[in-house]
Amino acid sequence: MPGRKDKDPMPQTFQFTAHGRVNLIGEHTDYNDGWVLPTAIPQKTLVRITPTNGREIRCESKQEGARSFILGEERNTKSWIDYIQGATKILADSGQQLQAFELYVESDVPVGSGLSSSAALEIALLKSLRSAFQLQLRDEELARIGQRIENEFVGAKVGIMDQMACAFASFGEALYLDTKTLEIERLKLPLDEAELLVINSGVSHRNSDGGYNQRRSECEAACSALNIKSLREMQTSDLANLEALPEILKRRARHVITENQRVHDAVKAFKAKDLPRVGELFFASHASMRDDYAVSVPEIDFLVELCRAQKSIFGARLTGGGFGGSIVALAKLGTHREVVPPILAEYEKKWGISAKLLSP
Ligand code: GLA
Repeated sequence: MPGRKDKDPMPQTFQFTAHGRVNLIGEHTDYNDGWVLPTAIPQKTLVRITPTNGREIRCESKQEGARSFILGEERNTKSWIDYIQGATKILADSGQQLQAFELYVESDVPVGSGLSSSAALEIALLKSLRSAFQLQLRDEELARIGQRIENEFVGAKVGIMDQMACAFASFGEALYLDTKTLEIERLKLPLDEAELLVINSGVSHRNSDGGYNQRRSECEAACSALNIKSLREMQTSDLANLEALPEILKRRARHVITENQRVHDAVKAFKAKDLPRVGELFFASHASMRDDYAVSVPEIDFLVELCRAQKSIFGARLTGGGFGGSIVALAKLGTHREVVPPILAEYEKKWGISAKLLSP
C-alpha cells in the first residue's frame, strides 16, 4: 500500500453483532429467580474494536457521536460510554489484561424501547473484547458481566434475561430460561401459523430511572416479610399466604408468582400450537403488569386494547421493563399488513405520537 511502512502493519479489527430481544412472556421475573421466554428481533448492534497503544479509549457511535475515556479512570457520565467504561472496569477488576482500543458502534435497536438496546451493546462489545484480547470467557460469563455493567456501573438493578437473550437467542425459537440455574430450553415458535408483531410505542423509558429499581426493592421487601429467599419459591397455590402483606407488596408478589406460572403455561400452549391460549396468557400478563405491578403507561394500554379489537390477533402485552417501550402481539400468519396500519393510525390520532412496527 503506498506510503505504508512494513513496521506499521494494518491495524487488526474485531467485530461482533448482537441482536435485540423481545420477551414473549415472563416480565420482572428474572430478578426474582424466575422464568422468562425471550426471542431475537431483527434489529442489532455492531461493535468494532481496533487495539491501540496508550491508555485512551476513543469511542464513536454512529447514532450518539464521539466520546473518550482513560483506561483505569472510568467514571459514570450518564451517557452511552458508561457501558464501555463499565466493561473495561469490571474486566480489569477481575484480573483480565486489556489494552487501549478504538471503538465504533452502530445500532438500529431503538433506545428506551424495551428491546434490550443496552444488552445488545454489552454483548457485542464483550464478544469483540474477548476476541481482541483473547479473554477466556464463555458466553454465559459475558452475560453475567453485562448484567454487572448495569448493576454496578450504570446503576440499573436489572436481572439476567436481556444479556442471556442477546448472547443466546436466535430467530424462530424462544429461550425458555430458568434465570436461577441459567438452564435453557430452546422452544421452536409456530411461525408456520403465526407471526410475532413488535410495536414500539414511541414512549421511551430508562431502566436506571427510579421505577424499575423500586419494583426490585418491593420484591425484596415482600420476600423478607414472607421469610423466603426469592419469589420463585412460591406457587399460585400459595397466593393466600400473601394476604398478610401490605397491599403494594401483595400486588407486586402476586404479579411475579402468577407471571412465572404464565411462562410455564405459555410454553405448554406453544408446544401444543394452541395459539388462542398463548394469546389469553399474553393479555393476562399485560393486565397483571398494569394492575398489580404498575409498570404500564396509558399509551401502551391503549395499544394493547387496539390489538384486542382485531380478530386476527390472539393476544398482546407490554414487553420489557415497562414505563413505556414496546408491545409484543401474536397474530395469525400474514395478517400484519392488514391489521397494523389501522392500529398505528388510531394510536397517533389519540396520542399524537407515532408508534412503529419493528417486526415483522
Ligand atoms: C428489563 C431488565 C430485565 C428484566 C425486564 C423485565 O429489560 O433488563 O432484566 O427485568 O426489564 O422483565
